[in-house]
Amino acid sequence: MTSNLEAQLLALRQEGEKAIAAAETLERLEELRVNYLGKKGELGALLRSMGQMSAEERPKIGAIANTVKESLQTSLDQQRIALEAAQIQVQLEAETLDVTMPGIYSPQGRIHPLNGIIDRALDIFVGMGYTVAQGPEMETDYYNFEALNTPPDHPARDMQDTFYLPDGNLLRTHTSSVQIRYMEREEPPIRVVAPGRVYRRDNVDATHSAVFHQIELLAIDEGLTFTDLKGTIKVFLQAIFGDLPIRFRASYFPFTEPSAEVDLQWNGRWLEVMGCGMVDPKVLKSVGYDPEVYTGFAAGFGVERFAMVLHQIDDIRRLYASDLRFLQQF
Ligand code: DAH
Repeated sequence: MTSNLEAQLLALRQEGEKAIAAAETLERLEELRVNYLGKKGELGALLRSMGQMSAEERPKIGAIANTVKESLQTSLDQQRIALEAAQIQVQLEAETLDVTMPGIYSPQGRIHPLNGIIDRALDIFVGMGYTVAQGPEMETDYYNFEALNTPPDHPARDMQDTFYLPDGNLLRTHTSSVQIRYMEREEPPIRVVAPGRVYRRDNVDATHSAVFHQIELLAIDEGLTFTDLKGTIKVFLQAIFGDLPIRFRASYFPFTEPSAEVDLQWNGRWLEVMGCGMVDPKVLKSVGYDPEVYTGFAAGFGVERFAMVLHQIDDIRRLYASDLRFLQQF
């Protein structure tokens, strides 16, 4: 009886340890634990038969049962640790990052050089308290010429020939028209900067385009003088081009008096970069401002010209060709 039960216990241990060592998952391991050591498990079943034993036998078998239980428990614990470690290993391998793999190419867009200049210029003027405004590209003769002190017989019209629409309107030749539109709807003090497309009936070549971009500047207030104009232009040009010499050269525009052209010393040469002047009293009158109370200055420049100087672009047509080999350089 005794030796029979003892043999059964030892057989159970052997069988259990084999099964535990063969378990490949934590779920299987838990199944085995329940099967051998659980309340309704095999070890319990064997021990229940101890009831019939004599008083001498019982402690002996009890001691053997305890070692069987302990060694099965130890095997379970060891196998669990091994399985958990293996699981972590598998996870680590699955999550390994191969830093030597080639990257995924994602094409990157760029700001067009013209938009780059416009963005920078507007930023600088906004920093000086200016507001950005826009006007229509299709204009009336009044806003493009007449209100800017350029009547139909004015010789300055020859310089700015443009495209006329069947209804007598035209494609604006400059963003100066925005001056008038803005002053008509606002009251002084005014600080406004107006970027936009303009049109000229020019033959296209390396330095001319029938469509190009300008930025217009207008300040109206009590007591503004030519000094304010010079200071503003200087701050602006130096922010764009760096700390280079600039000069103001007397010139003529119908809508300013006095007028000047601004030159910038670039690579040892004087380059003309913008027109400017004090707003002509007739222009102020055309929008109902009293020229005895208000004075102001205005300026205008071509964005293409700035881009070509800054980036050493030899042909204006490159700016419109949408050639990525060119555009990707910026
Ligand atoms: N509108 C002029 C042009 O297209 C540029 C210009 C010159 C604008 C003098 C101004 C100015 O506001 O004061 O050539």
